[in-house]
Amino acid sequence: MGYFGAAGAPDLSYASYLRVAELLSQQRCVSEPAEHDELQFIVVHQVFELWFKLLLHELDAVGVHLAGGSDEDVREAERLLGRVAAVERVLQGSLHVLETMRPIDFLRFRDRLKPASGFQSAQFRELEFLAGIRDETLLPLVRGEATAEARLRRRLGEPSLGERFFACLRRRGFDAPEGEPGRGARVAALRRIYEEPSRFPLEYALAEALAEFDEQLTLWRQHHVAMVERVIGGKIGTGAAVTGAREGVRYLRTTLDRKAIPELWEVRATIGGGP
Ligand code: HEM
Repeated sequence: MGYFGAAGAPDLSYASYLRVAELLSQQRCVSEPAEHDELQFIVVHQVFELWFKLLLHELDAVGVHLAGGSDEDVREAERLLGRVAAVERVLQGSLHVLETMRPIDFLRFRDRLKPASGFQSAQFRELEFLAGIRDETLLPLVRGEATAEARLRRRLGEPSLGERFFACLRRRGFDAPEGEPGRGARVAALRRIYEEPSRFPLEYALAEALAEFDEQLTLWRQHHVAMVERVIGGKIGTGAAVTGAREGVRYLRTTLDRKAIPELWEVRATIGGGP
């Protein structure tokens, strides 16, 4: 443990630096007596929240580099997006842990969770809002969590990841205007990049890193809905009371087409000519 207890911080240890005792005291089962599978259920969700925290941190830094817009900034944004995608892959992998839970074992404590649901994850919504997937009607879900609501409102007032990306392209000489009327021109700007990747290598690599972020988010949604169907089938979600009785898997399927930066997907149909 060479990193801990270095000169200048003689009291620092692995446990005190990482607050291991505090971390390990945060898993409280609601089943009584505790059901065996509830601990894995809590741990997986808590781990997700930690990764969400890191994703927000990294994407904020990506935003700063996009605002900078220099060659070095673009390279750094791309590098950090590589980390973001690595975390997103870990999130998908974590769902395998839940897939080891037998439906009958989940039912032993599932009723105790009502009306809580991943649907209420403020950090997940923050991630969506930052990315540009913004459904303001979801704000009441985090009402009561004062800081969460403030953070979500702040995100709504900030440019999305896509808006920052196109502002970066403008700074680098592309005609990529803001707003809905500028959408066609933004796709055309991307088309220049996608038709001549070797002429615009930095912009191309950045665009692909953002597409990777978006694709990994979709893959997470797909894996989550498949896992949910495997565990609860067509049952309605535990969050039904607060989510307006959305219908579990059927609701989740409606989210699969959400895209953070739709232009990055539209451009692919426009290049090279032909249908
Ligand atoms: C056995 C495990 C799980 C089941 C059965 C499950 C089930 C569901 C269901 C049915 C919904 C739809 C909303 C509702 O009706 O409540 C939902 C939404 C959601 N769940 Fe899960 N989930 C599980 C694990 C997880 C995990 C580990 C996470 C990670 C944080 C998560 C995050 C979410 C999120 C973010 C939503 C909202 C998705 C959206 O609106 O696009 N879920 N879940």
